[in-house]
Amino acid sequence: MEQKREQWGSRWGFILAAMGSAVGLGNIWRFSYAMGDGGGSAFLIIYLLSVLLIGFPVMLIEFSIGRRAQTDAVDAFKKIAPKTGWVVAGGMGVLAAFLILSFYGVIGGWSLRYTMAYVTGGITGDSSEFFGGFISSAVSPVLWQFLFMAITIAIVYLGVQKGIELSSKWMMPILSILLVLLAVYSLTLGGAQEAFAFMFQPDWEAFTDPSVYISAMGQAFFTLSLGMGAMLTYASYLDPSARLTSSAAIIIGLDTLFALVAGLVIFPALFAFGLDPAEGPGLVFVVLPNIFEALGGVGALVGFAFFLLLSMAAISSAISLLEVAVAYFIRKLNMSRKKVTLIVGLIIFLLGVPSSLSQGAVEITIFGASFLDFMDAFTGNLLLPLGGLIMVLFVGWTWTKKEVLHHGDIEDNAFGPAYLLTAKFVAPIAILFVLIIGLINW
Ligand code: PHE
Ligand code: NA
Repeated sequence: MEQKREQWGSRWGFILAAMGSAVGLGNIWRFSYAMGDGGGSAFLIIYLLSVLLIGFPVMLIEFSIGRRAQTDAVDAFKKIAPKTGWVVAGGMGVLAAFLILSFYGVIGGWSLRYTMAYVTGGITGDSSEFFGGFISSAVSPVLWQFLFMAITIAIVYLGVQKGIELSSKWMMPILSILLVLLAVYSLTLGGAQEAFAFMFQPDWEAFTDPSVYISAMGQAFFTLSLGMGAMLTYASYLDPSARLTSSAAIIIGLDTLFALVAGLVIFPALFAFGLDPAEGPGLVFVVLPNIFEALGGVGALVGFAFFLLLSMAAISSAISLLEVAVAYFIRKLNMSRKKVTLIVGLIIFLLGVPSSLSQGAVEITIFGASFLDFMDAFTGNLLLPLGGLIMVLFVGWTWTKKEVLHHGDIEDNAFGPAYLLTAKFVAPIAILFVLIIGLINW
């Protein structure tokens, strides 16, 4: 029997859930280390350009496909373009959901572990020793990863309105306020000047480094949850009359702001404490404890609040990853949401264990990177841009102008012509260009 598809309770429910998907570890954990590795300002400029020229059209395109098709990421292509190859984008999306959530759950577990550390007195002394000791043990990080996945599974299990929508509604504002307060404090620590130079003073030489392009564009896709059908799936629970363009603008604006403010928390503190920006994926877990320690008495409380909110932001992103796979298998296997969520969630947890172990417990490397770092770079920098490329080509080149404008909700909007041009040429060419640079470099 055909099950009735769920829907958002309101347009704001959708916006908040999509915002919850976008704002996550990508803005704080991934953004700061990718920018640290990418040399700062050159990365930031290419990232911002990618968000504007690629992120915006790709988000609107995913929304258009999802709202039009009213079904999951795979079925959407089958429904709109039966018996064509475009469905590969949906299949890649479901695959990306498994792969991304597998390592995302590991970092989510780290955040939970740090939240707990601040309940029990905080992290004092050498923060990089504490971090290294924790992630390189075999059992403890896996247990925290399990806890993180269990919470994610529980929310998706409850469904679209009662789980996803409700949980996204109240935590975003609190996290924003806390982040701004922390940035203000971090800027007083004495590293502000160096941080500004690092973040905003263009270093022209860095633009000649091909790896900066691919990592900055990959970051734009990752942070906006694009290229794997998460935004498509969320938009499929929308009433066909819901507005899309303003939603996309709000989500992108906020996500970008979050990343920038996170940069203003992390880099001034990093320079103030004499740490190295190219510290890698552990950056926030090493830098932030220094700030909280420097805060003195209230430090443990602020540290607790910060990591709790980071964990919650991570969970609201993780549920969107899980939902892509769950929505697909509910329809494909015609099984209940509850059963599918438990099975798929458990498989993804198991898939993540090697990522967790690769941080020191067991030597697991691919192409010279740890398994976790490889999964992160492979999915973010390759799979997502490729998925996004296929989706823009699908809409830009197989839909009529009228369809593109109508389903993108941009028909009586002054930006219509620019959007058409971007969907057809600018975004696909830009993505392809960066992918080719990346491939040649590799
Ligand atoms: N956008 C999320 C973040 O920044 C991660 C994510 C990627 C979520 C892809 C869904 C899909 O943390
Ligand atoms: Na993000």
